[in-house]
Amino acid sequence: MRVGIVGAGAMGQVHLRSWSAQGAQVCLHDRNLERAREIAAPYGGAVHATLEGLLGDADVVDVCLPTFLHRQLVEQAARAGCHVVCEKPLALSVEDGEAMVKACEDAGVRLFVAMVVRFFPQYRQAWQTVQRGELGPLNVVRLRRVSYPPHGGASWYADEARSGGMLLDLMLHDIDYALWLAGDAQRVYARLNQTGARQYAQVVLTHATGAASLIEGGWAYPDGLFRTALDISGEHGLIEWSSDAPAPVRRYQAARGRAVSDVALPDHAPGQDPYTTQLQHFKTALEHGLPFDVTPQEVLRSLRAALAARESSRTGRAVSLGDSA
Ligand SMILES: NC(=O)c1ccc[n+]([C@@H]2O[C@H](COP(=O)([O-])OP(=O)(O)OC[C@H]3O[C@@H](n4cnc5c(N)ncnc54)[C@H](O)[C@@H]3O)[C@@H](O)[C@H]2O)c1
Repeated sequence: MRVGIVGAGAMGQVHLRSWSAQGAQVCLHDRNLERAREIAAPYGGAVHATLEGLLGDADVVDVCLPTFLHRQLVEQAARAGCHVVCEKPLALSVEDGEAMVKACEDAGVRLFVAMVVRFFPQYRQAWQTVQRGELGPLNVVRLRRVSYPPHGGASWYADEARSGGMLLDLMLHDIDYALWLAGDAQRVYARLNQTGARQYAQVVLTHATGAASLIEGGWAYPDGLFRTALDISGEHGLIEWSSDAPAPVRRYQAARGRAVSDVALPDHAPGQDPYTTQLQHFKTALEHGLPFDVTPQEVLRSLRAALAARESSRTGRAVSLGDSA
């Protein structure tokens, strides 16, 4: 598989490492040619000075550009007949996202959006446990993801018109996970606090089942700190995990006719990083014509919910999502 990565920044480097680990033939394009060369060197990846050069040399285009540039590149890659991996958020608006999905469908190429949280072992195990019905009906899902402002708060990330802002860029991860776990949401309410470059928000999703997801997110911590956590409670059990106490994931099962105390899920110290797991999944599904674990329709649903959360944080009012998110 020939993979062309566009964007040699933070994510471009991570994807390059992951593709190389799978033996893919990788090439790279970035407007900063020097940086692209420097990054590609340890992997022997070719560097193209132009996007057109890369498109002619790839079966798959991996979009690692800043978010405001995703639409243009995804459409261009699709027109060139390349399958597409696109970093999240897919787009800055639902309209853009739908146009990108359609462009790929029209061109007969496949689109995979890199919602990597679904590939973190802790999050995937928790999801599988819920899917097997072992927790019973879900009541409350609590998710936390707080880091520091990217690039010290002085880059395209800080410009909501280019990144979507923290609610879209960062909290989308957990909004997507909550919808994947607990199903469609009917209502979203959000509060955002901002002091300079640091911001912190809380989002409440009310799912169609009646379950609630309480999501905390921020570019709020001192530089260098990043904390994530999950806490999923159902009728019959609770799963909790925090990046402060990485392993094992603990599961507390309520007694149902037999005495069950706490049971730990299998230890899963990850032998492989989730970015690689996710791209391996893409490659296998593409090669064998299998469905992706992240579908474009799910991605659009999450985008809709994250944008509604941002709207709620501005108006102070809950936003109804109808049946679509
Ligand atoms: N999945 C995750 O956990 C995760 C984490 C961080 C970022 N992201 C997403 O990944 C994407 C990229 O983020 P990043 O942190 O790597 O950004 P970055 O700013 O570190 O890198 C962007 C790169 O794109 C290049 N670039 C900009 N405009 C270009 C153009 N017109 N043509 C060619 N190259 C161009 C820049 O030179 C830079 O090297 C964003 O959508 C972001 O939201 C996802």
